[in-house]
Amino acid sequence: MDFDWDSLTFSFTATDTMYRNVVRAGEEWGEGELIPFGNIEISPAAGVLNYGQGIFEGMKAQRADDGNIVLFRSDKNAARFAQGAKRLGMPPVPESLFLDAVESVVKSNHRWVPPTGRGALYIRPVLWGSGAILGVAPAPEFTFMVYVCPVGPYFKGGMTPIKLKVSDEYHRAAPGGSGGVKAIGNYAPGMMPSKMAKVEGYAEIIYLDAVEHQYIEEVGAANFFCVKDNVIYTPDLTGTILPGITRASVMQIARDLGHEVREERVDVDMALDADEAFCAGTAAVISPIGSIEHGSKIAHYCNGEVGPVTRKLYDTLVDIQLKRADDRHGWIRTLEL
Ligand code: PLP
Ligand code: COI
Repeated sequence: MDFDWDSLTFSFTATDTMYRNVVRAGEEWGEGELIPFGNIEISPAAGVLNYGQGIFEGMKAQRADDGNIVLFRSDKNAARFAQGAKRLGMPPVPESLFLDAVESVVKSNHRWVPPTGRGALYIRPVLWGSGAILGVAPAPEFTFMVYVCPVGPYFKGGMTPIKLKVSDEYHRAAPGGSGGVKAIGNYAPGMMPSKMAKVEGYAEIIYLDAVEHQYIEEVGAANFFCVKDNVIYTPDLTGTILPGITRASVMQIARDLGHEVREERVDVDMALDADEAFCAGTAAVISPIGSIEHGSKIAHYCNGEVGPVTRKLYDTLVDIQLKRADDRHGWIRTLEL
C-alpha cells in the first residue's frame, strides 16, 4: 500500500471498515456487522454523551517477523471490557463476541497493519449507552463498536527516555470510583493537567494516590514501574489503578528473567531514589523514564540513557509480540487471513 509508515505517530487515521452491534437494554447481544468506516448518527440525549456511560479498550495487531498478523493477549482485553461494562451499568459483551468482532475488523483492514517494527494497527473497541435518556440511569440502548488506526510511537522518539512531573494538584482516581476500569470519563479530567505539563516541556504527569498524596498510581494512560537493586516495583492494584495487560506481562517476563517483582505501594520518594523507571501500556509499550520532578526534587535515571533492565524487558516483550521469541505463556494469537 502507498502509505508513509515511517511518519506514523499515535494519531487518528480513517481506515476501511468498522464493526457495529446495537442491543436494547434487557436483550441479548446479537451478531453485529462490519460496515464502511464513517460517522454515526446518535441522539443528543444519548447516555454516553450526557453522563459518560461508556468504556473503551486499546489493543494492537502487529505484523510478526514471519509475516503473519498477531494479537497480544486479546482474551485479557475481552475480560476487562466485560468488567468495565458491569461497573458502568452496561450489558457485558460476551468475550467470544468481543474477540470475533476485533478479529473481523483487523482482517478486514489488514492492509493498514504496518510492516514489522514500523508501527501497529491500534484497535479501539468501545461500548456506549447510545439510547436517549434524561434521568441519570443506564441508557435504554447500547452500542458496541470496533475501529482501527495504524499508529506509531505513543511518546515522541519511541525509546528516548521521557521527562515526567509528579502532580501534587490533580488526581486521576479516588477509592470507590472508576479508576480500575477503562471508563471514558477517566480521561478528560487528565487532559488539562497533561497539556499544561507538555507546555512546560514534560511528556506526561505522574499521578499520586488521592488519599495520602504519597504513593505513585499511574503515568497518564500507562502503568508505572521502577527498578532498585534489580528488584522491580510497581503499584499494586487497589481499585484506583488500571490493571494493565502490559503491566501483568512485564511482571511475568521480569519473573521469568529471574527478577524479584514487588507489587506494592510505591512511595514517590523511593521511586525518585530508584535506579531505573519506565511506564508500560499497549500504546506506550515500555517507555523509559529519563527524569521525574516532584516539587523541588528531581531524579535523573541512567544519565538519560535507557537502563539495562528496562532495555531487557522491552526487548523480551517485543520479541514475544513479534514472534521472535518462544511464546511460552500462550499470549500470541495468529490471525488466519
Ligand atoms: N493505565 C491507563 C489509565 C490506561 O488507559 C492504560 C491503557 O490501556 C494502561 C494503564 C495500560 O494498560 P494496558 O497495558 O492494558 O494497555
Ligand atoms: C492504551 O494504552 O491502549 C491506551 O488506552 C492509552 C491511551 C491512548 C488512552
